[in-house]
Amino acid sequence: MEMPILIQGFLKKRMFPAPTIPKMRPLARLENFDYTIVESHFELRKPKLMSPENPRPPNQKDLHIMFYDPDVKGDHGLPHDPFKALVSPRPIGWISTLGSDGVINLAPYSFFNAVSYFPSYVMFSSSGLKDDPMKHSWRNAEETGEFVCNIVSSELADAMNMTAKHVPLSVDEMALAGLTPEPSEKVKAPRVKEAPAHLECEYWKTVELPTNNPKFKHGVIFGHVVGIHINDDIIVDGKVDVTRYNPVARLGYMDYTQVDKVFSMDRPDDLSMGRKMLGDAPYKNKSDT
Ligand SMILES: Cc1cc2nc3c(=O)[nH]c(=O)nc-3n(C[C@H](O)[C@H](O)[C@H](O)COP(=O)(O)O)c2cc1C
Repeated sequence: MEMPILIQGFLKKRMFPAPTIPKMRPLARLENFDYTIVESHFELRKPKLMSPENPRPPNQKDLHIMFYDPDVKGDHGLPHDPFKALVSPRPIGWISTLGSDGVINLAPYSFFNAVSYFPSYVMFSSSGLKDDPMKHSWRNAEETGEFVCNIVSSELADAMNMTAKHVPLSVDEMALAGLTPEPSEKVKAPRVKEAPAHLECEYWKTVELPTNNPKFKHGVIFGHVVGIHINDDIIVDGKVDVTRYNPVARLGYMDYTQVDKVFSMDRPDDLSMGRKMLGDAPYKNKSDT
């Protein structure tokens, strides 16, 4: 056996329940690709799949739950960071803006969401690049005071992905992806004509987040939605029917999903249900928020 080497190998995370494992364990090389973990009390338990025949012991409820500190690089011990896969699916805001020189910019943001309703506000979050700490969408939104969120249908997935390409500010990304600019009603930034719906936004403010690396800036850009376009063909019985356009959402890694199944649930405290049961008013579903 060679001299032990101190490594915080990622394998340890997979083999042990995180809460019971000390941070550092000496790892010793045996030969070729074989290693051993050197420790006085040996607890190497292979994770067992739980089943009715092999139930989880009541005192080991956390046996297969890993814990890691997301501020410590690589602490998850997995080949890819799992954070974004856990917070999913995330809708994609396909942000169109105009540069101060009038060039159209278009880029997808999955740190995107609606954050309030009446008044309607949305946000997208830009994580800067080493050579360009403020991404173009952020810069343009601040400089011009407006942006548009285009909704991504499944048939636009490839075009959307194409517009994530890092190109100079002088490149029109709608043209790059073969899309058609359509004038907006209340803002100068154009919409993507092919998109099934659009939110015209007036820039409100940016909240800059603390950063783990001063070379990268993180800004959450908020906008007030001042106009909404919806293609008639996605409205069925007075409601937006997502199965007509299958919005694309981001999962983790390079994975996506599209919405093609919907189920409904009434709110437990929906007063209109009570009224319906008492018979003093017609049933009206008010679960809009
Ligand atoms: C589906 C998808 C979602 C993305 N989400 C984000 C995001 O939330 N924040 C971010 O900074 N970059 C995100 N990106 C990367 C940007 O789209 C990419 O850096 C783009 O070039 C930025 O363009 P811009 O500089 O014209 O704004 C995403 C890329 C894809 C394909």
